[in-house]
Amino acid sequence: MEIGILGVGNMGSAILNGIIKSNLYKKEDILLYIHNQDKLNKYQELGYNVTNDVNDLFKDTIIIILAIKPQMFEEVLKDSHKYDFKNRSIITIAAGLTIKYVSKFFKNGYVVRCMPNTPAKISKGVTTVCANDTTNPFFKTTLDIFNSIGVAIEISENKMDESLPLNGSMPAYLFYFAKCFIDKAVKEGIDYEVAKNLCLETIKSSAELVLESSDNIDTLIDNVCSKGGTTIAGLEKLYDNGFDMAIDACSEACTKRSKELCK
Ligand SMILES: NC(=O)c1ccc[n+]([C@@H]2O[C@H](COP(=O)([O-])OP(=O)(O)OC[C@H]3O[C@@H](n4cnc5c(N)ncnc54)[C@H](OP(=O)(O)O)[C@@H]3O)[C@@H](O)[C@H]2O)c1
Repeated sequence: MEIGILGVGNMGSAILNGIIKSNLYKKEDILLYIHNQDKLNKYQELGYNVTNDVNDLFKDTIIIILAIKPQMFEEVLKDSHKYDFKNRSIITIAAGLTIKYVSKFFKNGYVVRCMPNTPAKISKGVTTVCANDTTNPFFKTTLDIFNSIGVAIEISENKMDESLPLNGSMPAYLFYFAKCFIDKAVKEGIDYEVAKNLCLETIKSSAELVLESSDNIDTLIDNVCSKGGTTIAGLEKLYDNGFDMAIDACSEACTKRSKELCK
């Protein structure tokens, strides 16, 4: 089999949809390992090759995407040592787990470490990709896979934990930021749907503005803040209440937890 997905949860299903939609792989090239019988039946009815024996994936699948939680690795991969993964590739998307750690389960296999995020569900994921071995013949294919669900960005492995707050975990931080503003607007009597649209459409278009503009972020902030105006009045409250320190602590805790997951 060309490609196997081990675990078809949030991320596994997003990757599956991406590679099918973009015609990178056909259903017949894909083998799904699913331990839950109802889910397995559902994917079988959809025409996928499915198995509830993880060994079927280990036997001869050329690329295996590990889409299970980091805490499950030891249990689910306990039989992988029986196989040789020469000329085959393992893609791990598990938070925190290093290439060195994952490699110990896959004798002679190439390992690529990736960190996608949940906008992958709508083909707008942002994924960091790294491999320790520059001769890895599967690196380009891995970029193709993650470009099929958004954009893939190469990064060195020693910055994977530090970049996690910026993409893998960022959706939750942004959702929380938006929620705080929406909840406040609702308290002020604005209809929830109206508040949600105003806030999220503005976050979306503002992100596009930063990406498309030749001005830096500081200039774009200044452009919204006229002297003595409304925006600066609010922004000063973020400065006074230590917003930057809260973000600093949030990023550090996220990175620290990522490093702990491999211990
Ligand atoms: N969610 C994110 O935002 C995000 C972002 C980047 C990276 N990741 C990484 O992606 C990986 C998957 O996360 P997720 O959010 O997709 O988790 P998830 O939705 O919980 O999916 C995990 C998958 O593992 C399966 N599974 C559970 N127990 C199993 C077992 N004993 N044997 C085999 N399979 C088992 C689950 O099957 P059932 O559904 O049948 O229980 C499910 O398909 C994690 O390593 C995470 O670090 C997640």
